[in-house]
Amino acid sequence: MKDILTLGIESSCDETSASVVLNGRKVLSNAISTSLELHKEYGGVVPELASRKHIEFIVPCIEKALKDANVTLKDIDYIGVTYGPGLIGALLVGLSAAKALSWAENIPLVPIHHIEGHISANYLEYPDLKPPFLCLVASGGHSSIVAVDDYGKYRVLGATRDDAAGEAYDKISRTLGLGYPGGPAIDKAAKEGNPEAMQFPRVHFKDCLDYSFSGLKTAVINYVNTTKMKGEEISVPDVCASFQKAVVDILVENTITAAKKEGLTHIALAGGVAANSALRAAMEKAAGENNMTFYRPTPILCTDNGAMIASAAYYAAVHNKRFAGLDLNAVATISLEEI
Ligand code: KG4
Ligand code: ZN
Repeated sequence: MKDILTLGIESSCDETSASVVLNGRKVLSNAISTSLELHKEYGGVVPELASRKHIEFIVPCIEKALKDANVTLKDIDYIGVTYGPGLIGALLVGLSAAKALSWAENIPLVPIHHIEGHISANYLEYPDLKPPFLCLVASGGHSSIVAVDDYGKYRVLGATRDDAAGEAYDKISRTLGLGYPGGPAIDKAAKEGNPEAMQFPRVHFKDCLDYSFSGLKTAVINYVNTTKMKGEEISVPDVCASFQKAVVDILVENTITAAKKEGLTHIALAGGVAANSALRAAMEKAAGENNMTFYRPTPILCTDNGAMIASAAYYAAVHNKRFAGLDLNAVATISLEEI
């Protein structure tokens, strides 16, 4: 079969990224620019600032991706682009660039769901991984358990009813003065803390695999504020370790339950929170105890990047024949099952 090169473009949040991937599995380049520094003083992503930076970054990013891969646009077979879910102004920048290139060079345009991209990061890390498998997607905007029945065929078995896991990390980090993004900061601080120091609530729904992190987030923030009001000292590492233990316990428990229910023995992680060291270790342990094979992308492929979009685009084009016209629009909210 002829070699296929996909160009993946991602701009749904604060990372602008473009990447060239060979046959859906081999990363030839992965250029990433981020406006993260700009958002730090606000404690979270400011959509308008992110959009402006995407405009500045997008063309140099695509040029770098092509140059690093040692190819030109003429060599590209498909252009994959994230069209949702995400920040609408941010998405529009990557989408407009992708449409312009598709039109100018007559390259088919492939619409990619952001979560599908995250899941596909596992195909880059593990060239032999094939559906069916189960994937826990945990990021700043999503916490979902997804059955990947085939390439491009997904069933959402459980999702958060309120905050995403990454959102809880970011908000607690802000309360503790650890800055944005909260995930890496809490992950680091937790290494020095005692995960059993405080018992924070873990929410379970009866006969349902959904998550809820809002109660946990509020409990941690209340603990910090009340302790401060009493004039008592807070052990930041202990709070971080205890909060993280609660998040990881819930994420792992529901994922293993879902895998057993579905009879799936291959489980994967995806999304920014999948970079978390405690989650990776706990999931690996639980998978081993249940005779399941565990997959997780290297941290740079867990957070937003163009390579995961390029991989997803390969399968969407070649396997699912999913293409879009120049009328493709960005969407802030769209379920994985709607694609
Ligand atoms: O996937 P991503 O880059 O963007 C979204 O699609 O949301 O995920 C970003 C989220 C942020 O909430 C960030 O705090 C979290 O992933 N994150 C982590 C870690 N690294 C990033 N959460 C926990 N531990 C980490 N090491
Ligand atoms: Zn993401």
